[in-house]
Amino acid sequence: MQRISEEVIKEVLQKTDIVDIISEKVSLSKKGKSYFGLCPFHNEKTPSFSVEPERKIYTCFSCGEKGNAITFKQKTENITFVEAVEDLAIKANISLDLSSVRRENPNKKYFDINNDALNFYKLFLSSTKQGVIARKYLAKRGITDEVINTFNIGLSSTGFDVLYKTLTEKGILVSDLFDLGLVKQSKKESFYDLFRERIIFPIIDERSNVVGFSGRSYLEADKDSPKYINSPQTKVFTKSRVLYNLNNALNEIKKNDRVVLFEGYMDVIAAYRANVKESVASMGTSLTTEQVKLIKRYTNNVTICYDGDPAGIEATSRAIRLFENERMEVKIILLPDNLDPDDYLTKYSTAELNTYINENWIDKIEFSYLKNNMNIDFSKMLDIEHFKKTIFDLIKNTSNTIIESYIKRLSSDINISLESVRQDFYQYTKRNIQNIGGRAKRTIPIESKYLVAERRLISYFISDIKFVLKFNVEFGEIFYINSTSRDIKHLIEDQHYKNLENNVNSDINEEDLIEILSQDQLHFYNTKVKNKMIELFDKEYDDLLSTIQDYINSLLQEEIEEKIKNAPTNTEKIELAKYRDVYIKEVQHGKR
Ligand code: UTP
Ligand code: MN
Repeated sequence: MQRISEEVIKEVLQKTDIVDIISEKVSLSKKGKSYFGLCPFHNEKTPSFSVEPERKIYTCFSCGEKGNAITFKQKTENITFVEAVEDLAIKANISLDLSSVRRENPNKKYFDINNDALNFYKLFLSSTKQGVIARKYLAKRGITDEVINTFNIGLSSTGFDVLYKTLTEKGILVSDLFDLGLVKQSKKESFYDLFRERIIFPIIDERSNVVGFSGRSYLEADKDSPKYINSPQTKVFTKSRVLYNLNNALNEIKKNDRVVLFEGYMDVIAAYRANVKESVASMGTSLTTEQVKLIKRYTNNVTICYDGDPAGIEATSRAIRLFENERMEVKIILLPDNLDPDDYLTKYSTAELNTYINENWIDKIEFSYLKNNMNIDFSKMLDIEHFKKTIFDLIKNTSNTIIESYIKRLSSDINISLESVRQDFYQYTKRNIQNIGGRAKRTIPIESKYLVAERRLISYFISDIKFVLKFNVEFGEIFYINSTSRDIKHLIEDQHYKNLENNVNSDINEEDLIEILSQDQLHFYNTKVKNKMIELFDKEYDDLLSTIQDYINSLLQEEIEEKIKNAPTNTEKIELAKYRDVYIKEVQHGKR
C-alpha cells in the first residue's frame, strides 16, 4: 500500500484552519493568540485545552493530548488517517486521489452486503413484472428513469423471502443479513425479508457507503400499512447521524456553499427535479446536533424547507436553534397552504419550486415574527402585549434598520401608533438591560420569590421533560427572569431531544447535564438549584407556575402605570386606566 506523500499532508495542514475544525466539536474562546475550551479527550470542568492557530496545533495542559487537525479528526470521529486527510482536503478544496492508499474500513463487509441488496432491489424494479407497476406509480409522481438512477431507487420483491434466498445463495451469511436488519426471523430457522413490496430508497453516506434503506408502500391494497419502513439501527446505520442524499449533494453543496434541508425523501427528489441539487433530508425524525455538525463540515449556510403545516413550523423553530448553536447562517422557506415541496411542485411547476426556494426565503426574525403572529387573537390586549415582547426580544440586539422596520410593522399589525410602539420598545429594552447588568439586584432582589421559583423549576425540568413542555405552553419558550436559568432550561431541552434521537431513554440524566453546563452555569446550578433537589410534587409545580405568572402580571401592571404616567393627553390616560382596571379585575378572577 502506498503512503500519502509528505507534501500532500503539509498542503492539507497548511490550508486547514485548525480553529475552524476544532470548533466543530469544542466551543472555543479566544485569549491572546490562542483559543481555549474544554478538552474533548478527558472530562473537565475548567478549560485546559488550547488551540494555537499559528502553529496549527492543539494541546491539553491537563491530560497531555496534543496534535494537529488530522489527529484531532481521527481521534474525535473514529476514522482512519487517510479518511481524516481526505475530509480536510475536501473542506480545503484540494483535490486528491487517495484510492490507492484508502485503507479498508472495518465495516466494509456490511457495506458490500448492503450494496448487493441494493443491486437486487434495483434489478427488481427495472426488470420484473412487478417493477412495471411500481415504475408506473413512480412515473405518476414525476419520477423518471433519470431520477430513479440518480437516487438509486429500487423495489423489494413480492415474495416474503426472495432477498434472503438470493443473497444467502450467493454465500452471504444469514447472521450478517440479520445484523443489517435486512431479514427478520419469525421462528427458529425461518427467515423473511424486512422489505416486501415496497419502493426502496437506499440511504447512502457521504463516503458513498450504503448504510441502510427505507421502503415506501405504493400499492392501493397496502395503504393501511405504515407509509415507510426503515432499516433498524445497525452497526453501520444510525438514523440520527445520516442525512438522506448527502452523497449526491456533496459537490453541489460545496459549489453553492449552502445546503437545503428537507423533511422527506420525496421533497429532496422534488428539489432535485427543480434543479436544487444541494438538498438533503433528515428522514422524518427531528434534526439532531450530529446532523447539524455533519452539514457544518461542508458549509455554514443552511436553507430550511420543511412542510408548511404546524408540525413543520415547530420543527423549523427547533432546527433554527440547533444551527444557531453552531453559529451557522439560516434561511427559511415557508411554502404556502400547508404544502410540502413535493406537493408544491405538483401543484405548480419545477420552475416555480426553484424560484420559491431561491428567492422567497425569509430570515429567522421574519420567521419568528410570522410564527408568533399566527397564534394571536388581536382582540386580546394581553396577547398583543405578549406578541410585542416576543418581537422586542427578537430584534433588540440587531441593527437600527431592522428594529425600525419591525417597529413599523408591529405598529401596523397591532394597530397602535408608531410612536407608541417605539416608546414601548425603548422602555422595554432599557428595563431588560437593567436586568442583565449589575443593577438587576436592585430591581429584583436575588432572593425574590420569583427568582427562587424560577430556579426551583429547574429541578422539575430535570426530573421530567413534561414540565418543560408545560412551561413553554404557558409562557412561551422565550420567557425568563434570569438568563442563566433560561440557558439551563434550553440545555435540558436540547439534551432531551438528543436522547430521543439516539433512542436513549429520553429522561434527562443529571450527570449528562452537568457535563454540558458551562463553568458559570455549573456554579449557579450547584449553589442555587442542586441542594434544593428535594421531593417534587405536581402541586408545587403548579404553584411555581402561578408565581411566575404573578411576576408577569406585576411587570405588566407596572408597565401600564408607567404608560399612564407618560401618556401625553388626559384622554389617553383615561383610556389606559380603564384598560388597567379591566386587567386587574381579570387577574383577580384568576383569568390571567
Ligand atoms: P412524509 O410523510 O412527508 O413523506 O414524511 P414524503 O417523503 O413526503 O413521502 P410521500 O410524498 O408521502 O411519498 C417525511 C419523512 O419522514 C419519514 C421518511 O423519511 C419521510 O421521507 N417517515 C415518514 C418515516 O420514516 N416513516 C413514515 O411512516 C412516514
Ligand atoms: Mn411529504
